[in-house]
Amino acid sequence: MTHSISPLLHNNAIKNLKLDACYDRTFLENGNDIIHKFDNLKLDGANVTVPHKENAYLLCDKARGISKDIGAVNTLVKENKKIIGYNTDAPGFLESIKSFRDIKSALILGAGGTAKAIAFILRKNGIAPTILNRSSKRLIFFKENNFQSFAWDNFILDKYDLIINTTSAGLKDENFPLEENLLNSLMQNSNYAFDVVYGKATPFMKLAQKNKLQSKDGSQMLIFQAVIAFNLFYQNKFIPKIIERYMREASFL
Ligand SMILES: NC(=O)c1ccc[n+]([C@@H]2O[C@H](COP(=O)([O-])OP(=O)(O)OC[C@H]3O[C@@H](n4cnc5c(N)ncnc54)[C@H](OP(=O)(O)O)[C@@H]3O)[C@@H](O)[C@H]2O)c1
Repeated sequence: MTHSISPLLHNNAIKNLKLDACYDRTFLENGNDIIHKFDNLKLDGANVTVPHKENAYLLCDKARGISKDIGAVNTLVKENKKIIGYNTDAPGFLESIKSFRDIKSALILGAGGTAKAIAFILRKNGIAPTILNRSSKRLIFFKENNFQSFAWDNFILDKYDLIINTTSAGLKDENFPLEENLLNSLMQNSNYAFDVVYGKATPFMKLAQKNKLQSKDGSQMLIFQAVIAFNLFYQNKFIPKIIERYMREASFL
């Protein structure tokens, strides 16, 4: 199943570019069936969302780009009868923090699939990421890939230019992704904040604004990952700004 807003974004771009296509949602009960479903529906492209991104990576014919580091794909494209997997969350995130200047270090809250994508793209772009998670199990992946990482119980307070929330804390509740006083201390020593959640002023975002950090929610990341995916469906033949315009028009993001 895809994000509910994605069909709006893609279908408005399809309509305005006068393409013979349709972007729809389908529910996947068993992640192991992802390629069968892709074939049975005779698709040329698809987006994959939680919790199937890892399965999609393992089952596609070939993974390209940064998805090979992350071990997760959110975009599948039929290319010469093969199903190729890409990760557009990572470049979508990078594009959305372009206006943040002189970032050398970042603290990523959470250690799920989104944290993996962000950690790799930051490191590839010369920004040192540190991962801080509620529990330690998911940190194994980050330690194996030589990222500095901490669980809440062994974290040592430090200074980071950018604080990123990749957890869903605050999405359907009023929770902070980290104990409030600790998060406040981190923000007092930071310049920028980013929340992958969009469409809601989360407690994380409100605290960032209170601390006068330059901050962004996940709406631009959502648009940019969709623009990059859309262009992959069409062998990168469109100007990204044009796709972006049609997608923004559909979503008011
Ligand atoms: N804007 C965009 O374009 C975009 C793109 C991709 C994803 N997202 C959003 O990103 C969010 C995370 O996705 P994901 O796939 O990375 O999720 P995930 O794989 O389920 O990871 C969730 C992580 O968040 C932590 N966590 C969850 N609830 C928490 C809480 N209340 N307090 C502290 N930590 C908490 C978990 O810690 P434990 O390990 O301790 O359980 C885990 O590390 C979702 O809301 C998704 O919609 C947005």
